[in-house]
Amino acid sequence: MQRLTPRLRKDGVDLELIMLIRTILAASKEIAFRVNQGALSGILGSTLDENIQGETQKKLDVVANQLIKDMLLDNEQVRALASEEEDTIVAGTENAPYIVAFDPLDGSSNIDINGSIGTIFTIYNARNDVPNDSPEQFHQRGKYQVCAGYVLYGPATMLVLSTGGPTRCYTLDATHGGYLLTTEALDIPSETQEYAINGANQRFWHTEIKQYIADLIQGEEGIRGKRFNMRWNAAMVGDVHRILTRGGIFCYPSDTKDPNQPAKLRLLYEANPLAMLVENANGKACTETGDILDILPHDIHQRVPVIMGSRNEVETCLNYYKQ
Ligand code: F6P
Repeated sequence: MQRLTPRLRKDGVDLELIMLIRTILAASKEIAFRVNQGALSGILGSTLDENIQGETQKKLDVVANQLIKDMLLDNEQVRALASEEEDTIVAGTENAPYIVAFDPLDGSSNIDINGSIGTIFTIYNARNDVPNDSPEQFHQRGKYQVCAGYVLYGPATMLVLSTGGPTRCYTLDATHGGYLLTTEALDIPSETQEYAINGANQRFWHTEIKQYIADLIQGEEGIRGKRFNMRWNAAMVGDVHRILTRGGIFCYPSDTKDPNQPAKLRLLYEANPLAMLVENANGKACTETGDILDILPHDIHQRVPVIMGSRNEVETCLNYYKQ
């Protein structure tokens, strides 16, 4: 089985970018070790703090953030970084080629129940037209990502990565400590009979998504004429990993739950990297009105509605918003 670095070299990835990816993955191995140790690692449970978005921080959120941040700031390829757990951007090495954004621990509510969680990351070329410490470094459309990936800490630790080409899947070989290529190119089937949405939010949904989901639930008795099944991981990485593996549609639509927060998922370090991975695996990733990868960000913690997965099913869902 092929190791990560030779595979990236074969893909023609710049050496500097390979070094940066390896730094993120070195941090991911430390996180994986702590996750595997569970309660023995002493990092389950919550801290007394909240992050910038008013969410309770888990101890593992804080530890994972610190690990990735420290390792990235030691890496001379990083001009600036942004994290879900940092209020604003953190400046790195002047004139370095890249900027990195990450969600250190996605799906934190799964930490204490031994469920799947993950680290999501994205890399862009640094901008020379704005200062190093300006949040505008990150005001770049998702289609300009030079690398997107996540590490899923599940029964196996898996890395899913694209550097612009196919979305490849690697598995951490704990005996040797390296990521080995296990799927050359993920390919999402365009049709599906499986959907993922938090149905508890139904009363806050807008008419379009209410009707779409109602039609899925009607199954073979309704206008879709086929039966659908539902799966919800409560960690976007877990749901998207299932979809990358066997197809499906993931929806976190806008809703009326909180007037100050019309959508839940973050564009920079959740929606964009996962959208790139889905699109490069022949899937489709949209908001309710257009492609996620076309959005010009105006805030590093900006939130967007997300509909992604099997191409034909995503298009069917979007048609409800066009009627
Ligand atoms: O904040 C991100 C996240 O944890 C996603 O990983 C996940 O899909 C979603 O929130 C879970 O939301 P809910 O709490 O509504 O199930």
